[in-house]
Amino acid sequence: MTDQPLSLTGLDLRAEIDRLRKDRNAIILAHYYQRPEIQDLADYIGDSLELSKKAAATDAAVIAFCGVKFMAETAKILAPEKIVVLPDLNAGCSLEDSCPPEKFAQFRKANPDHIALTYINCSTEVKALSDIIVTSSSAETILSQIPKDQKIIFGPDRHLGGYLSRKFDREMLLWPGVCIVHEAFSETELLKLKAQHPGAPVAAHPECPPHIADHADYIGSTSGILQFAKTFTGDTLIVATEPHIIHQMELAVPGKTFIGAPGADGQCACNICPYMALNTLEKLYLALRDLTPRIEIEEGLRLQAKKSLDRMLEMAGGTVGMGDLGAR
Ligand code: 13P
Ligand code: SF4
Repeated sequence: MTDQPLSLTGLDLRAEIDRLRKDRNAIILAHYYQRPEIQDLADYIGDSLELSKKAAATDAAVIAFCGVKFMAETAKILAPEKIVVLPDLNAGCSLEDSCPPEKFAQFRKANPDHIALTYINCSTEVKALSDIIVTSSSAETILSQIPKDQKIIFGPDRHLGGYLSRKFDREMLLWPGVCIVHEAFSETELLKLKAQHPGAPVAAHPECPPHIADHADYIGSTSGILQFAKTFTGDTLIVATEPHIIHQMELAVPGKTFIGAPGADGQCACNICPYMALNTLEKLYLALRDLTPRIEIEEGLRLQAKKSLDRMLEMAGGTVGMGDLGAR
């Protein structure tokens, strides 16, 4: 990679972004799946839960959210007084797309004795229809606080739901959504890679299907996988999640080798999240300059969605009673 900042019209983009960040009193939040050049200039990099907490706590006037739309919407739900910009509004998520609110509402209605425990990778409307939101780093803590006899709908990721269901030995009704990125890993190619690197552990995100997760030595959220990368004892780690996270691993542990798990073509290029990749340095510069594209949410919808997010933040922090949480 060149040291020269990327250019829109001959501008020094990194210097311009720095200037605008100060002028606008803005904070740049980035997910681990963002391009390295965005990670490198972010004020804070994190997983979905950490970024939500950061958005809720910041005293900046503007949040430039380098991630996907549901993450920027979460920031706006938790910090409505802030201007939240997303460099590319088309940065969606296949899990969100798999779960239209009308269909989810019907599913809930058909199962009135179930509560909806919902992965944060969903629309604001689906959050508003849910009882508790979880992220991959908070799901286990939260599920362990829900009484065993409480029936649960889990959506929209059937692989994360299936993983939780097996680990906690709890039946859950699973919404049939998947992440197209984690779905693209190939078991055959992973086994070939393991054979080429005997003893190299595999770290996987719980969005992986079971035929990939079953080969993992560690399963966890992006921040969990990064922590594993910092502490594992070997020389080489196989990483079964979106490969841009490897940038942070290489910065944190320069002497070790991190290999992205392969897709069916034997390479990992097909595992780059096409939505996350829409954000570029140029679009971030324009978003800070023009304060657009902005995330706006109707107030009634925001307040309804905030309830399930607040439950997540309370329950992720420790044990709370189930209180008023009943089936709808
Ligand atoms: P994390 O919460 O682990 O960062 O995951 C977010 C995501 O979209 C994974 O695909
Ligand atoms: Fe959605 Fe998958 Fe991209 Fe994460 S990696 S944002 S779950 S499509």
